[in-house]
Amino acid sequence: MTLLPIAPHSPWLAPLAGYSNLPFRLLCREYGCAVAVTEMVSAKGLVLGSPGTAGLLATCANDHPLVVQLFGAEPEILGQAVIRLKMQGVQWFDLNAGCPVPKVVKTGAGAALLRDLGRLAACAEAMVHAAGRGTVGVKLRLGWSEEALVYATASAHLESLGVGWITLHPRTATQGFSGQARWEHLTQLKQATALPVLASGDLFTAEDGLRCLETTGVDGVMFARGAMAGPDIFARYLALFHGTPAPPRDVAAIHTMVARLAELHTRWGSPRQGLLQLRTLAPRFFRGLDHARAIRAQLMTCRSWEEALMHIAHLEESWSSSSPAARASVWG
Ligand SMILES: Cc1cc2nc3c(=O)[nH]c(=O)nc-3n(C[C@H](O)[C@H](O)[C@H](O)COP(=O)(O)O)c2cc1C
Repeated sequence: MTLLPIAPHSPWLAPLAGYSNLPFRLLCREYGCAVAVTEMVSAKGLVLGSPGTAGLLATCANDHPLVVQLFGAEPEILGQAVIRLKMQGVQWFDLNAGCPVPKVVKTGAGAALLRDLGRLAACAEAMVHAAGRGTVGVKLRLGWSEEALVYATASAHLESLGVGWITLHPRTATQGFSGQARWEHLTQLKQATALPVLASGDLFTAEDGLRCLETTGVDGVMFARGAMAGPDIFARYLALFHGTPAPPRDVAAIHTMVARLAELHTRWGSPRQGLLQLRTLAPRFFRGLDHARAIRAQLMTCRSWEEALMHIAHLEESWSSSSPAARASVWG
């Protein structure tokens, strides 16, 4: 069994419902992502053969190493799901114990497991039993609410059950995405457990990733919204980590990124999902760049990849032929 890279120089792509599909994961890997996690997959849906679940599990030889994230609240079903996935060649798994979305929580899954640590342990144990020690991670939030921060207790128990690593998003479930991720809890978890700890939470830039690593002592970082704003975050992070020059972030670089995503969607995705991803993801790549509002609006409403790439090519042309002063006025 090969070990998963959990190390400072091995940035992970987070599970991202609706985003971390095969084409997006492949693009992130091309920029240096070391391990990618699928979006959360319902263990029950998988076991019952629900339509749609297979699409979430699409993968290919280059999509490696891959962690499949499951959500569920029934140990037996989670165990069965792992056995099925193992038969399909999946080697690594993750249990979602952090999703605060009502649809998930009301089934007792996701962050609801933080209110029932016995069930959390039983779910993790069933997955470890089916998958093997060290091959299952658990992704936690701090706890359900401020009054019950259970991550340290939960991690100690999970460690004794043969879980391989913990990912911590240091917010409570009731917080959702509000406030700031409290990285000090990453430091505390790292000191309290012998398990490798991955950090997730407010890692919007490569600099955030490195700062989190240095200030908390975690074993590795996981990019989520930072990767949605540009999979090149992996290359920037690795450049910063190794002290080499960062790759440029200009219109040409974004053009290359969107064009490659188009290719990967054509080869590995579905046309419907591809167009949806184009409209929601590509405009994010231009975020933070002043005066890029027009191109973002064009991308959000475009009807094909060809149209999107044409808009970006026009911007690139006017960009490369303009004076530095004019570029500043376009770009800010
Ligand atoms: C659109 C979106 C979808 C997400 N889907 C999942 C998911 O399927 N499973 C999961 O454990 N976390 C999910 N998350 C949480 C992220 O993996 C990550 O923990 C969180 O965004 C904090 O990291 P960030 O602040 O760097 O974005 C999702 C987050 C976003 C923004």
